Amino acid sequence: MKGIVLAGGHGTRLYPVTLGISKQLLPINDKPLIYYPLSVLMLAGIREILVISTPADLPNLQRLLGDGGHLGLDIGYARQDEPVGLADAFIIGADHVGDDSVALVLGDNVFHGNAFYDLLQRNVQNVDGCVLFGYPVSDPHRYGVAETDAQGRLVSLEEKPARPRSDRAVVGLYLYDKDVVDIAKNLSPSARGELEITDVNRVYMERGKARLVDLGRGFAWMDAGTPESMLQASQYVQTLEKRQGVRIACVEEVALRMGFIDPAACHRLGEKLAPSDYGKYVCAVAEELGHRPG
Ligand code: DAU
Repeated sequence: MKGIVLAGGHGTRLYPVTLGISKQLLPINDKPLIYYPLSVLMLAGIREILVISTPADLPNLQRLLGDGGHLGLDIGYARQDEPVGLADAFIIGADHVGDDSVALVLGDNVFHGNAFYDLLQRNVQNVDGCVLFGYPVSDPHRYGVAETDAQGRLVSLEEKPARPRSDRAVVGLYLYDKDVVDIAKNLSPSARGELEITDVNRVYMERGKARLVDLGRGFAWMDAGTPESMLQASQYVQTLEKRQGVRIACVEEVALRMGFIDPAACHRLGEKLAPSDYGKYVCAVAEELGHRPG
């Protein structure tokens, strides 16, 4: 399975901050926002990843993530000149997807929960159609909303409905089979002029090939697109990290635990970052998992 991180857009709800820097590079507590969605793809076992962003922001994202080799990844980059919709990711990324299945994650979505690794591993195998993830929210009108029948089958999908039929938001992580590229290429823009991901998902639903997996109430999902939601996400991450002494979405640790890099390589990454507590943590994890400082 291939991965795409969609990290474009103008970040207008964060102006003036995003006049000078991409939203996805802003910190959520101790690390850039993009580490959170990137670590989701890594936990799913995906190593070939395309990062899509604006021409202005791509150089900075590239400076941060490079070719991904240091994390045992293969990261490529593609530009989206204008934010014409989430489904555009599959048109831009058509060659990257090829004949494979693909996971799309939005560059400003933060996920955290127990057994997330298991949930991802269960769902990335043999995707036939699409897999969506639902999350209960108090303000569903701000999101794509999914409705299911008593048997848990999807019966409607609506983008930002004025009168939501359920409280299930569709989160910014989507798994598709290879048909997604053709579906995206045949979409018409919505009333707001965008190639909507919800329209892609509706095509799958109408073919009887869309599945909704519930993330449940014990899970944390945040869409960090405003000053308030960025602060909330930072506070959530800080609280857990301080209480438990572990770090969420530390990409070096994820690479090590997934077996993408070995403890010595992880330690070298930590040494480069060592003036920060984050760097010290990366070194400590490498030592705990087998690196002998010498
Ligand atoms: O966060 C989950 C929600 O994401 C879903 O529930 C909705 O169904 C889905 O449409 C989307 O809604 P948003 O209102 O959050 O989409 P937004 O336009 O804010 O785009 C999400 C991110 O993707 C944002 O960080 C900017 C980036 N983006 C967006 C567009 C439209 C791009 O990189 N390119 C684009 O063309």
